[in-house]
Amino acid sequence: SLLGNLRKVITLVDQLRDIGLNDYIKLPRIVVLGIQSAGKSSLLEHIVGIDFLPRGSGVVTRRPLELRLSYSPQSVCAQPTAEFVEEIKGKKYTNFDEVRKSIEDLTDKVCGTSKNIIDKPIILAVTGPNCPDLTLVDLPGITRIPIMDQPKDIEQITTNMARRYCEDPSAIILCVVAANADMTTSDALLLAKKLDPDGIRTVGVLTKIDIMDQGTNAIKMLKGEEVPLKYGYVGVKLRSQQEIKDNVPIVQAVQREKNFFANHPVYSSIPGDIFGTQVLTGKLTRILYRRIRSFLPTLMQEINQRISKVQNRLDILGPGLPIEDSDKLHYIWQLIHEFSVRYRNSISGQYEKQKA
Ligand code: GDP
Ligand code: MG
Ligand code: NA
Repeated sequence: SLLGNLRKVITLVDQLRDIGLNDYIKLPRIVVLGIQSAGKSSLLEHIVGIDFLPRGSGVVTRRPLELRLSYSPQSVCAQPTAEFVEEIKGKKYTNFDEVRKSIEDLTDKVCGTSKNIIDKPIILAVTGPNCPDLTLVDLPGITRIPIMDQPKDIEQITTNMARRYCEDPSAIILCVVAANADMTTSDALLLAKKLDPDGIRTVGVLTKIDIMDQGTNAIKMLKGEEVPLKYGYVGVKLRSQQEIKDNVPIVQAVQREKNFFANHPVYSSIPGDIFGTQVLTGKLTRILYRRIRSFLPTLMQEINQRISKVQNRLDILGPGLPIEDSDKLHYIWQLIHEFSVRYRNSISGQYEKQKA
């Protein structure tokens, strides 16, 4: 079954990345791209169904956050659990306020408490009964104007980081654009278009549909009539600043999003699955799975090529130490010892012949 295999396949890819394979072979994953305040963090919280990301105005995401989400049935995992993969090892969190605090601490630890941005990902694994099987990377948003002691070239730094993650041909670009701005001039879409000119690995998300100008709607944008993408767009309504102030829990915000689209005078009658975070999650899951699956044969080929290269080098080096034969082994140690004595003498200028 698709869902049964999905987590296994994604875990395989995550583990291959952990052992450093990504330095040689680019592994598929979803990268979240958008300008600052487009709604990236809000979207991730809607996808996970949990409040857990640091929030505030300005640049909050200052290190990339790799989120490894996995589904676990209620019977196995009654409540969502989180764990940082490389930092704070071994600690399991069920209190997500603590997770938020730890993300902030890990950000400050590496970036300092100023608004500096560093490309060293925080890796967080979250398992729960409402989690989809997805791995996503949240990037610091593209930032035009430096604040506080941010470097002057902050736009360049954030754009370059986004570019590095998104130019990888195996990456799926989740391009987050606010519907209440002109999408044809969106920095995120322009960058996505540059890196994926045919739009074959970009999924568009339109946020803030609820706060568009009166009398306008997002239909043309969602149908790709403004900026076409093969995978198309999904419109979402995420938690507003007011709802955050009022402490509206994410679960309730997700419900409000459903009601918003179901009762909307225009959107409720549009056919096709193009509205809501749930629709987006299903779409991403299918795309990621298909991409990984189509990628596995190439991966096998690459791995086999690497194995045979290493084998060739091993063959050239010849047989290993004769560890079973203590006489031979002793003789080798003696040669090594003599060699090192002569070497040491030679570099200190004593060239006289040593006794054998
Ligand atoms: P990020 O910088 O891309 O991570 O953006 P955030 O997720 O922090 O969102 C920026 C602001 O926009 C926050 O105040 C959110 O509450 C608000 N916001 C995001 N999406 C929506 C949306 O769909 N509707 C409304 N009304 N507000 C949103
Ligand atoms: Mg953010
Ligand atoms: Na954007």
